[in-house]
Amino acid sequence: MLRHFLSTCTPVANAPIFGSHPKGIHTSQIQNPKFFPIPDPQSPFAKRLLWRIPNPRYPFAPNPHSLGGVGAPSSPEGTPPAPYPQRGPLPSPIPNPQSPYLRNVSNNHKPLILGVTGASGLIYAVRALKYLLCADYEIQLVASKSTYMVWQSEQDIRMPVEPAQQEQFWRQQAGVETGGKLRCHPWGDVGANIASGSFRTLGMIIIPCSMSTVAKLAAGLSSDLLERAADVQLKEGRKLVLVPRETPFSLIHLRNLTTLAESGVRIVPAIPAWYHNPQSIEDLVDFVVARALDQLDIDCIPIQRWQGRL
Ligand SMILES: Cc1cc2nc3c(=O)[nH]c(=O)nc-3n(C[C@H](O)[C@H](O)[C@H](O)COP(=O)(O)O)c2cc1C
Repeated sequence: MLRHFLSTCTPVANAPIFGSHPKGIHTSQIQNPKFFPIPDPQSPFAKRLLWRIPNPRYPFAPNPHSLGGVGAPSSPEGTPPAPYPQRGPLPSPIPNPQSPYLRNVSNNHKPLILGVTGASGLIYAVRALKYLLCADYEIQLVASKSTYMVWQSEQDIRMPVEPAQQEQFWRQQAGVETGGKLRCHPWGDVGANIASGSFRTLGMIIIPCSMSTVAKLAAGLSSDLLERAADVQLKEGRKLVLVPRETPFSLIHLRNLTTLAESGVRIVPAIPAWYHNPQSIEDLVDFVVARALDQLDIDCIPIQRWQGRL
């Protein structure tokens, strides 16, 4: 849906909309029209895109003449475009004691459960996994049944069902081939280790979290492994962090979220801040992920934190 919208509303022929692909797709895939359709410069949306005009107040708004990467246009004067600022690759193999991702990490000795649901924005899960593996955490990952459909719908990517293949898949998406530990569980395996309170964990983060999962957790339902694992964290008094993704919220969503907050669940909605001068979609996503991991006392993402006014 997002891909379709973006592809129909780009006024600059053949220019990628962002310097690095917003969904973490490999750069080799950007040239593939299946993943990145050629935009239509004649689109009626094109004329309305005032936000594409470079604006120093909003450095995040892409400037077609400053984009690097595949298909970036030359400037009108013929000089090569300035490279678009991008984060460097994450270090691998890991752990490296000097790594900035390990800077403030002291609690990576117990496994952390990473739940992924069928809410929009799987990039949140991918970025969280990337940093956690880089910081040498052991991740027990469970993706709900709907996650398969969202990968398919939003990115045209098939997520494998078989656990070993799924581990490879997530590592590939995160761009972390080695480092940390990753174990994927089938969504229906309610006999898995994480379904029991006797399996000790740091807690669980569900990112992104759908309203359906919010509702089921608020009602105490455990109809799949993800919900069971979350329910276990609650009954054991462990940390449970949700990153809900929906807009607008209905009264029912808000009531369910309130019920969970009253039970000690930390609710960190996928709402980025703007005071850290984000330059890319990854910057916006990383801010949300970092604030969610803050709730678990995990500090492995080098975001710019507010230091007060200078
Ligand atoms: C492409 C796509 C995007 C979706 N985005 C959201 C969303 O942002 N938030 C949400 O609550 N549900 C969203 N849904 C609907 C959920 O996937 C659906 O409610 C599903 O039953 C959730 O199941 P789960 O919580 O077990 O993953 C989306 C579905 C699709 C196919």
